[in-house]
Amino acid sequence: MALVTTKEMFKKAYEGKYAIGAFNINNMEIVQGVINAAKANNSAVILQCSTSAIKFAGIKYLKALVDAAIADTGVDVALHLDHGPNMEAIKECIDNGFTSVMIDGSHYSFEENIKVTKEVVEYAHARGVVVEAELGVLAGVEDEVSSDKHIYTDPDQAVEFVKATGCDSLAIAIGTSHGAFKFPPDFKPQLRFDILEEIQQRLPGYPIVLHGASAVDPAVVAECNKYGGKIADAKGIPVEMLRKAASMAVCKINMDTDLRLGLTAGIRKTFGEDPACFDPRKYMASGRSSIEAIVDSKIKNVLGSVDSMK
Ligand code: G3H
Ligand code: 13P
Ligand code: ZN
Repeated sequence: MALVTTKEMFKKAYEGKYAIGAFNINNMEIVQGVINAAKANNSAVILQCSTSAIKFAGIKYLKALVDAAIADTGVDVALHLDHGPNMEAIKECIDNGFTSVMIDGSHYSFEENIKVTKEVVEYAHARGVVVEAELGVLAGVEDEVSSDKHIYTDPDQAVEFVKATGCDSLAIAIGTSHGAFKFPPDFKPQLRFDILEEIQQRLPGYPIVLHGASAVDPAVVAECNKYGGKIADAKGIPVEMLRKAASMAVCKINMDTDLRLGLTAGIRKTFGEDPACFDPRKYMASGRSSIEAIVDSKIKNVLGSVDSMK
């Protein structure tokens, strides 16, 4: 019942064949929506902030919101820096009480990625903080670097990278990508489970992370569009593939886009049904409820993390 690292969470998740949800937070209503669903399911959760979230809300506000959520609900939370770009951002998060950081060196050469990750691991471990690294490139926009092709993670390199850096978890590229437009409308998504399986065999017990794992529920997109939105051709990762990954070595599944869509759908619905509304408590409550329902469904149907706090 506290702010914790991901160490114990991942150990239990690996053994229990489920994953912990990592949800991006930007404001109070997102924190509350996620935490309420986690509490209702007795599930541990990872709340993560990108550097853009920190720029938007302020690191002290975000940390205070997470502290308040834990004090209010008793949910086990790891506070994580998502896509940390450099040592400066990592130090700021560690200084402000984050329990986990990601160093995203995926756009560097293999050798350079090892070098920057190793430096972060040394700094973070000395302060009791765990480190997620990334190897391989997801298609789409990632950390201001865009690629039109996946560069799938090479299992040989994954083994060498983990041994050389001592990172606590590794994000891999097996066909997911960031954002709401992951695939062309008529494309049949397929994750490279063969790569995941090989990495799992070569690194038994080691926690793997999946970024770009929003499912992009057509019903939520339709709700946005019904009330004035114009979101065309959005497509995400099929739920059954995410569930399969969670039952394998994937211990952390990152979702941001699904929360953005949910919040937007809830707010748009309120304005659509009540154009005279200008009370932020009304439309923000509606957005928060949408997030809560989405995270509830993720915990039950995607992650399998119900009762992970027992
Ligand atoms: O992977 C990126 C996350 O969705 C965060 O996005 O940098 O716009 O906050 P952001
Ligand atoms: P989505 O855009 O699929 O939600 O991925 C979020 C993510 O990977 C955050 O790091
Ligand atoms: Zn990501």
